[in-house]
Amino acid sequence: MDVSSKKPIADIIRERRTINFFKPDIPPREAVLEGIELARWAPNHHLTEPWRFYLLSDHIKRQVVDLNTRIVAQAKGEEAGRVKRERWSHIPGWLAMTCIRSSDDLRQQEDYAACCCAVQNLSLYLWDRGIGMKWTTGPVTRADEFYDLIWVDSVVEKVVGLFWYGYPDEVPVSVRKPVSEIVVEL
Ligand SMILES: Cc1cc2nc3c(=O)[nH]c(=O)nc-3n(C[C@H](O)[C@H](O)[C@H](O)COP(=O)(O)O)c2cc1C
Repeated sequence: MDVSSKKPIADIIRERRTINFFKPDIPPREAVLEGIELARWAPNHHLTEPWRFYLLSDHIKRQVVDLNTRIVAQAKGEEAGRVKRERWSHIPGWLAMTCIRSSDDLRQQEDYAACCCAVQNLSLYLWDRGIGMKWTTGPVTRADEFYDLIWVDSVVEKVVGLFWYGYPDEVPVSVRKPVSEIVVEL
């Protein structure tokens, strides 16, 4: 089913924002799966298709929230952990993405780059459907226990990020440098 807005792609790219605060409703799984279907059309040198997506159940979400609370409490104290638990407990949609590891450094770098392109495809598609995302790479995503919770062998795959998604409650404003500051004409 095509539920895209038919907005110009330039508007979707420019208006997409990282969302920190979501409404409580969980977007349909079908939207996320459609986004993943599109994510995999990202450019990918040698077509290794290095991305793997993990849709987190409520049960696993709760375990990730517990794990993050413990990590934050250890680093910053019980109160900081409590605040994180409160915030994380209200995140509606959870998804993790990994990249298959390679012993070849160049392959690994290019595969990670392809994964990032895939994330952007997913993110733009969801945004066009009114669904916001946040890419998180906090300490929890590097913890051995996180790999265990999502049943990933850290020797075989590396976590690219944990992604929250849902309907935005607040859309932040963001700015970018002027093009003239980032372009060099040779
Ligand atoms: C690889 C990567 C990791 C990120 N990790 C985090 C993170 O751990 N915490 C966070 O608040 N934002 C994270 N972000 C989101 C950025 O902070 C965000 O994209 C940036 O502030 C620009 O905002 P925008 O996405 O709305 O344009 C990450 C983005 C990328 C690409």
